[in-house]
Amino acid sequence: MDRIRITGGGPLEGTIPISGAKNATLPLMIASLLTSDTLTLKNVPNLADVGLLARILGNHGVDLTIAGKRPGQRSGEGDTMHLTARDIVDTTAPYEMVSRMRASFWVLGPLLAREGQACVSLPGGCAIGTRPVDLHLEGLTKLGAQIELESGYVHAKAPKGLAGGRITFPKVSVGATHNVLMAAVLAKGETVIENAAREPEVSDVAQCLVKMGAKIEGIGTSTLTIQGVDELSGAVHPVLPDRIETGTYAMAVAATGGDVLLDNARPDLLESALDVLSGAGVELTVTNRGLRVVRNGARLAPVDVETEPFPGFPTDLQAQLMALMARADGQSRIRETIFENRFMHVQELARLGADIELEGDTALVTGVNTLHGAQVMATDLRASVSLVIAGLVAEGETVINRVYHLDRGFEQIEQKLTNCGAQIERLAA
Ligand code: EPZ
Repeated sequence: MDRIRITGGGPLEGTIPISGAKNATLPLMIASLLTSDTLTLKNVPNLADVGLLARILGNHGVDLTIAGKRPGQRSGEGDTMHLTARDIVDTTAPYEMVSRMRASFWVLGPLLAREGQACVSLPGGCAIGTRPVDLHLEGLTKLGAQIELESGYVHAKAPKGLAGGRITFPKVSVGATHNVLMAAVLAKGETVIENAAREPEVSDVAQCLVKMGAKIEGIGTSTLTIQGVDELSGAVHPVLPDRIETGTYAMAVAATGGDVLLDNARPDLLESALDVLSGAGVELTVTNRGLRVVRNGARLAPVDVETEPFPGFPTDLQAQLMALMARADGQSRIRETIFENRFMHVQELARLGADIELEGDTALVTGVNTLHGAQVMATDLRASVSLVIAGLVAEGETVINRVYHLDRGFEQIEQKLTNCGAQIERLAA
């Protein structure tokens, strides 16, 4: 398994291009199941999760090609993806696939809406918590689906098609909102989804569905009203820039010091995180190209943050913030309210010298003067990148094991950081 070696200490200077958002790309690709026409996605990041989902969709009958080669890339690495699901050849999503990527469970709603049936494996366990799918199933049941659980599979049927309904989610769920929204666009009549997730990636998918002919009102709010249509057509849609990648690199610069332009970033998609950073003493400027992040000299002030659904501080930036606050001037309090076990990075950050105490869902991070390089293990995607941030500021050499997690969600991370002066390299297995 590949490892990453970082020699920390220097500031970051230069420009980092922000890629298309992983968490929008995945459901957008799944939306291609809703039409027999071609859906063209632009600004698609080249990530392991995108490749895996491409294979899963291929099993269902989606014909997928990638074009638009970018400078310096090999063939097959372009950023334009054409997806055509002329015929659905298989409505089963097997365990071997769904267990490797939770988002693939979201094929359930579209397959059910288009084919009247679907059989999808329950997603496997996950390092960040139990992550049930009860909200997905309750939502689809409200649209008339008959659902049975058998041998680890969800068997869903709607022999006469889905019908609109009113769904009030008791808890905000990004995945359940995607799943029910993608089913409702082809259901007969009106569906109202209350307490829908407002994450920008949900809105991006909704906007793409509208281009495909769906009728959706309330995009960007917590109430989505959908008038079902008989069929959808193809569309061309650019994936929105990745706000989590943006926040991650902003925190990397805040940690090392320096001056970096995050090119193509959309600062309006991560205001809560940027407020936290500027409150801590990071200089942020919105430019016509993106976001400029500057930090010179002084140590950052500690923060008091709770993760929340959008527009609150994202759970997907919690680990990175903890790495940043490991060297702040005082004690930070970081509370995780979305996932119950998203603290796997704590013991790894401690190996680098971070002083972090866990009290239930809250981490108390007391800033230290110096972190020291060490061998560490990546446990999930965002935890891995928090170790990269810590490694960039630690004195000496840090080696991160199991970096395949990073490849799931960060496009060309070594190149992007090397271009800004970081000493980071991949050690092939
Ligand atoms: C999405 O996961 C993201 N994944 C996650 O990003 C992100 O952390 C999460 O939303 C929260 O923002 C993708 O977009 C591919 P949820 P999802 O359903 O949809 C509970 C990353 O690193 N819940 O919003 O799976 C659940 O246990 C990943 O890129 C139920 O109780 O998350 C959690 O506590 C990791 N029942 C909360 O809701 C359900 O049926 C929010 O989960 C569904 C969820």
